[in-house]
This record gives sequence, C-alpha cells and structure tokens, in this order.
Amino acid sequence: MTGLLEVRGITVAYGEAVAIEDLSFHVGQGEFVTIIGANGAGKTTLLNAIMGVLPARTGSIHFEGKDIAPLQVEERVAAGIALVPERRELFSELSVEDNLRLGSYLRRNAAAERLDQVYAILPKLAERRAQFAGTLSGGEQQMVAVGRALMAQPRILMLDEPSTGLAPKIIEEIFEAIGSLKKGGVTGILVEQNAALALEIADRGFVLEVGSFVASGAAAELRDDPRVTAAYLGTGDRYREAAPAASAIVEGKDHSNGS
Ligand SMILES: Nc1ncnc2c1ncn2[C@@H]1O[C@H](COP(=O)(O)OP(=O)(O)OP(=O)(O)O)[C@@H](O)[C@H]1O
Ligand SMILES: [Mg+2]
Repeated sequence: MTGLLEVRGITVAYGEAVAIEDLSFHVGQGEFVTIIGANGAGKTTLLNAIMGVLPARTGSIHFEGKDIAPLQVEERVAAGIALVPERRELFSELSVEDNLRLGSYLRRNAAAERLDQVYAILPKLAERRAQFAGTLSGGEQQMVAVGRALMAQPRILMLDEPSTGLAPKIIEEIFEAIGSLKKGGVTGILVEQNAALALEIADRGFVLEVGSFVASGAAAELRDDPRVTAAYLGTGDRYREAAPAASAIVEGKDHSNGS
C-alpha cells in the first residue's frame, strides 16, 4: 500500500547523537496515526524531519508520491504538510485572528473564506478573535495553534503533544476538536505521551523508544500491549532493561524447581 506520506529508513542526528534511526512508516489518505513515546524518544525530531526543519541523513520521505528531500519548509507547507509545534509558537501580542491569518500567508487571497471554515470547526476561536493570543489560557492557545495550521488547508496535519501542560478537562476539549477533525476526513499524525487518549482517536499507532519503533499496529490492539503501558508511564527504558532480568529470575526458579 502506498501512503500519502511514506517515510523510508530515515536517520536523524544532532552531531554525533542519533535521535531517529532507520525509521520507516506510512500514513494513508484519511488515516490518523499516533506516535507514542516518552520524553526524549525522538517524536519532535521525527516531525521536524518530515517538516524539513531537520535534514534526514539516510532514507527518503515521499509525499503524494514525490520525494520531498529538495523542498524547504515553506515549500512543504505549500505542498500540504502542516505542523502544530510543541511550544505552540504564537505571537502573543497579535490577536487570535492575526495569528490565524499567519497560517495562510501562502494563500492570502483565500484567507477570509478559510477563516470562516476554521471558526466553524473551532467555534471558541471566533469568540476570541480580537483578543491578544498572549492573554489566552493554555488550552485556548493550543486551539489557536491548531487553527493556524488548518489555515494552510493541509493535506496532512501533524500535532506535537497537544495535551502538554493542560488540565484534564481542557485536554478533553482539545481531543474532542482533534476527533472532529479526524471524522471530517483530515489525515493526521498525532504525537503524544498520553497513550490512552491518543489511541482512542487514532486508527493505527506506533511506540517510539530511543529513536526506533518497538511496537506498532491497530490502535485497538496497541491499547492492550504492555509496551504501550510502559511508554505511557514513561518507563520505556526501565521496561526494556527489566524484561531480561525478569525472565532470568523465572528461568532460575524453574531450574531450582526441576532439580
Ligand atoms: N537541538 C538538539 N541538539 C541536540 N540534541 C537534541 C536536540 N533536540 C533534541 N535532542 C535530543 O534528541 C533526542 C530526541 O529528542 P526529541 O525532542 O525528538 O524527543 P521527544 O520525543 O520529542 O521528547 P519530548 O516528549 O520531551 O518532547 C533526545 O535525546 C534529545 O536530547
Ligand atoms: Mg517533543
């Protein structure tokens, strides 16, 4: 199956430090996948490589069948790739509406129409359209960041830990908004540490540990996978180190029982 996005064998490093190693996956048209992983697993690095912020040292990234290696970030945005960054990166002294408009700087003539569509999807933003972004709550700022990405009419929407730093009730609201985008047919990559929520929304999921996928599959199946619980609790490394030790104890026990 060829996907809308095809990532094949990419390696991304900071100097000598390899953050993503020989990673492959694809996202089909209309599909919503989640990438789950603890702090430092390489989630942001992976999204930045797809966005063109960081170069991939090996492998290839194809979008709609085309190798996007030669494309700069702006050209990737124009091609239909959008990222809602981890730190939201809003202009705090601009209004909500001006922040949204910045998301469509490549399609200025369509901005007014697109604004109406974004307000229809995220009605809370319409109420706040004239307010300075810097005076919004964390959850509202996250909504603006999502809205700004939608202004570019992306073919694929990448979200980097939208739940970070938000209260549970606000996280629920954000995920409701993401869920309605998904139902509307938006193709997406949702990066999260909140595995329970992410797997409720996604069709498929991947568990990223130290730059490699250690598990992948249908979201429903992954929910029962112990490696997901481990990543969700942020104990992925401990799980991996503990596993052989645990089996050695069991083996040892079997030996003593048998002799
Ligand atoms: N600018 C950088 N220079 C050097 N190393 C970096 C840089 N950014 C990230 N790293 C390293 O790369 C690895 C992956 O980092 P990354 O930010 O992709 O993780 P993450 O999964 O997004 O984590 P988090 O959940 O904390 O956002 C980590 O070991 C991190 O220390
Ligand atoms: Mg990150």
